[in-house]
Amino acid sequence: MRLSALRIVLIGFAVAAAGVADAATRAPGKAAIASAHHLATDAGFEVLAQGGNAFDAAVAVTAALAVVESSSSGIGGGGFWLLHRASDGHQVMVDGRETAPMAVDAKAYLDADGKLDRDRSVNGALAAGIPGEPAALAHIAHKYGRLPLKVSLAPAIRLARQGFPLESRLQGMISVRKDVLLRYPASVEIFLRKAEVPALGTLIRQPDLARTLERLAKDGFDGFYRGRTAELLVAGVRKQGGNWSADDLANYRIKERTPLKFHHRGYELVTAPPPSSGGVLLATILNVMEGYDFAAMERADRLHLMVESMRRAYRDRSYILGDPDFVDMPIRLLTSKAYAAGLRSSLRMDRATASSALPEGGVIDGGTDTTHFSIIDADGNMAAVTASVNLPMGSGLIIPGTGVLLNNEMDDFALAANQANSYGLIGTDANAPQGGKRMLSTMSPTFAFGKDRIAVIGTPGGSRIATMVLIGLLEFFEGAQPSAFVAAPRIHHQYLPDAISAEPGAISAEDAATLRARGHVVNEGERAWGNMQSVVWDLRENTLSAGSDPRGVVGKAEVK
Ligand code: DON
Repeated sequence: MRLSALRIVLIGFAVAAAGVADAATRAPGKAAIASAHHLATDAGFEVLAQGGNAFDAAVAVTAALAVVESSSSGIGGGGFWLLHRASDGHQVMVDGRETAPMAVDAKAYLDADGKLDRDRSVNGALAAGIPGEPAALAHIAHKYGRLPLKVSLAPAIRLARQGFPLESRLQGMISVRKDVLLRYPASVEIFLRKAEVPALGTLIRQPDLARTLERLAKDGFDGFYRGRTAELLVAGVRKQGGNWSADDLANYRIKERTPLKFHHRGYELVTAPPPSSGGVLLATILNVMEGYDFAAMERADRLHLMVESMRRAYRDRSYILGDPDFVDMPIRLLTSKAYAAGLRSSLRMDRATASSALPEGGVIDGGTDTTHFSIIDADGNMAAVTASVNLPMGSGLIIPGTGVLLNNEMDDFALAANQANSYGLIGTDANAPQGGKRMLSTMSPTFAFGKDRIAVIGTPGGSRIATMVLIGLLEFFEGAQPSAFVAAPRIHHQYLPDAISAEPGAISAEDAATLRARGHVVNEGERAWGNMQSVVWDLRENTLSAGSDPRGVVGKAEVK
């Protein structure tokens, strides 16, 4: 029997409508939070218990992480807050990415030979972009939350004032960056004891940060970007050789961005658009992979296909992507199925394509600095948040009197064309620094909406963020629980350097031999990377589950 076109359309409509209605009319009745620090997860639940929704909880978790995991994110940094509102399905990404100060001068980051001077791009005042996190928190609380900022910031203020015991992860970050922290008296006062890394259990108190958060709680945007905090920040940055002005702070604005959306094998992916490259990378990689029967492949073929897809997507990142307010980018083309088909035409399953053979369009491992957390509340509101100060302890510079540890996100710009940044990423004009411009990111907070299950997912890890989210999603598509897929072994390829990075155990000796025979460089057994935090809503059972990456040690995933 042939179905009429009209009947097919009507059946299709009924199926689609049932899926949407399911998520819109049902509510999980409980909440789930997974974050990189147990005290931050607790702060989120504390605010939910006071009548807050997922967005109030997102404010509370972000602010608590700024205090207890200040090595990774903070109010001296920025991030992306991807939100889904259950009542009307509204989805938005609040872009609180840092911006370059208006007086930015790319030459200031180069040495006498024109080479990128890493000390200037990652340490101290020149490394810091204008923070976006405080503006994002004020905006989210005001527009999407139910509670005033002073309630959702209360747990963070308490943690900053009363202190918390030092745990192994923050202790590790402090020791990695000790030499830089030693340059700045306010950083020494908070993070060192007699110029040494403090012992485990040492109480870390941050009274200046508590007062700065209180001004934010009281006056919102103006409490940080104008008045006392702003004056201290500008004076402190200039004293250390930076070039911020009062206008840079007063003119900072968050941007509400429409999330990037695409479909893959029955799932709708909702993820970060530029100025993050994360969503475009995910779309390109999954679109290329879609041309093959991934599920039926041997492990070595799967790895090869993933790597070849990653290589092509990261090539585009290097040459095309930047801040959408400054650069025109063919995002619809790059994320289209037709473009992916074109990329597949050069892809051979029996041989690696050298990155140098693709037309043009010193690396720090992606670690556990930066932070991601995922929330679903009892009504089905969702938040996927990735926030950062960039490298561990950001620029290392705490501005006296504020407790604010500044980011070193300026290193995410292509400060010198075609010279690798701390993550080995190269870039060109699209990501060149300019006053007021946002530096290109890889942070990839993501929702995956399926007929039966919804995932909220993300991770830190520099250039490797998008490939980690990819691997987490591939496992989720195959039915894995969050506690399992956040722990899945990881591989990565980013076009340049032209090599596969692999965590211990991610590639067997046999598969590594197969990949080498196809022409790949395989770096096995690198140290582990990432700190994925995810929550999943099973629509069939109407249950929630949550997973916190075991690599992160002090994270906490909870449903209650
Ligand atoms: O925005 C970005 O892509 C980077 N600044 C993120 C840094 C990061 O994840 C550090 N973690 N290893």
